[in-house]
Amino acid sequence: MMHQWQFLCENRELLLHRMGHTPRAFVKTFGCQGNVADSEKIMGMLINMGCEQAEDEKQADIILYNTCAIRENAEIRLFSMVGELKRLKQANPSILIGLCGCMMQQDEVVRQIRKSYPFVELIFGTHVLHTMPELLNRILRGERRVVNCYEGEGRENRIAEHLPIQRGQGVQASLQIMYGCDNFCSYCIVPYVRGREVSREPEEIIREAKEIIAMGYKEILLLGQNVNSYGKGLEHPINFAQLLHQIEQLEGDFRIRFMTSHPKDCTRELIDLIAQSKKICHNIHLPVQSGSDRVLGQMNRRYTREHYLSLIRYAKEKMPDVTFTTDIIVGFPGETYEDFLQTLSLCQEVRYQCMFTFIFSPRPGTRAAQMPDPVPYKEKTKWLNELIAAQHKISEEDNRAMEGKVLSVLTEHPAQDREGWMVGRCENGMIIKFPAKDVRAGSFVKVKVTRGLRSEYEGELA
Ligand code: SAH
Ligand code: SF4
Ligand code: F3S
Repeated sequence: MMHQWQFLCENRELLLHRMGHTPRAFVKTFGCQGNVADSEKIMGMLINMGCEQAEDEKQADIILYNTCAIRENAEIRLFSMVGELKRLKQANPSILIGLCGCMMQQDEVVRQIRKSYPFVELIFGTHVLHTMPELLNRILRGERRVVNCYEGEGRENRIAEHLPIQRGQGVQASLQIMYGCDNFCSYCIVPYVRGREVSREPEEIIREAKEIIAMGYKEILLLGQNVNSYGKGLEHPINFAQLLHQIEQLEGDFRIRFMTSHPKDCTRELIDLIAQSKKICHNIHLPVQSGSDRVLGQMNRRYTREHYLSLIRYAKEKMPDVTFTTDIIVGFPGETYEDFLQTLSLCQEVRYQCMFTFIFSPRPGTRAAQMPDPVPYKEKTKWLNELIAAQHKISEEDNRAMEGKVLSVLTEHPAQDREGWMVGRCENGMIIKFPAKDVRAGSFVKVKVTRGLRSEYEGELA
């Protein structure tokens, strides 16, 4: 990053010269929280180059799309949105359009963009995000197009620290604790586009956590594709539970959440720690993907239905108030209706607070994309709807059962649809709305649930 600072400074002058006014930058983020965190770093670097944040593409001199490759429809949408930027560039040739993120780690995508979208000047992958100032500098010095999606030897084992971060305005701050993924679930593109798993040094994480707390954020969201395997490969051994323990020892009034946990690496030590902690939320995102052992095997998830359920039972025993959320893939290649019914019954047993459901999308280069997939999409949609309907019923029942309970709530912002009401997030992860006149955003308050709806509560200050 030291090397990049000189470009940050140079770009200030060059950008001002090219635009003729204070440059405005717009970064649009697709995909997961990891991409959101990356965009905060990109924006942090742009602000350090003298940019202001623009509201949308039309107001911007620099437009960057931080892309996601997880499912095909994300890609299709991206191409059509980039196509629309052409008109902006034609109207004002000095604006600068760039693409980055996971899609730029795929050769085929980069080839297509090079060929069909000549107005995209800057293209860079996830591994070289921190070199953005240097890449931009080359454009500002006259290169027509700069592409760097190279994943060089040795490069992926190093983490660029000390990037400036432009954090969001809310009460929650993200903190990336690791990058990449080694799991190679057979359907998933992430290990290909994000590279091997690398953990940040605990000292760096603690330093950033202290910074976040000092800035006044009230919730820290620890991020990684598989936080449960944090620490692998570090010189001084440490695991995720130990890291969490260090963070919760920090002074201050804040909460901790984390995602994503992989069930194969979720330990009882971790569950015990969460149960004892006053700061770690009793709300765990534990994606199961499928309830059928046969499908789980084909997915290369490396746990069984029974192992998963035993973790859930253990957590519920230790924390009667614990809530779970999950991700489910419906219609994995070769999945039968009987397999699907196993997923349905697992969901009915766990009773998730909410779930993120996806129909399988073949990703080029992954193992699952080669597997025979005889079930028609329409049929998969029917299964998906059946699952969603079952989940709605569970959410409605369980949320109604919360009526009368008093929960710890972190207030987020005034409600848009109701004068004098506040929106907050309960410790258990649920959104709650309640009348509150003199409560500031970012306060911890006790709220009694008065109405449990399908996806939120209503309440009153207790
Ligand atoms: N690391 C996380 C998941 C990250 S991707 C984990 O292991 O749980 C987020 C979710 O997208 C996954 O949990 C999965 O449900 C879904 N997903 C990933 N690849 C997919 C594909 N090819 N088709 C459909 N859904 C997919
Ligand atoms: Fe993808 Fe599996 Fe890694 Fe999650 S754990 S990012 S689903 S390969
Ligand atoms: Fe998408 Fe990349 Fe995240 S593929 S889900 S943005 S790691």
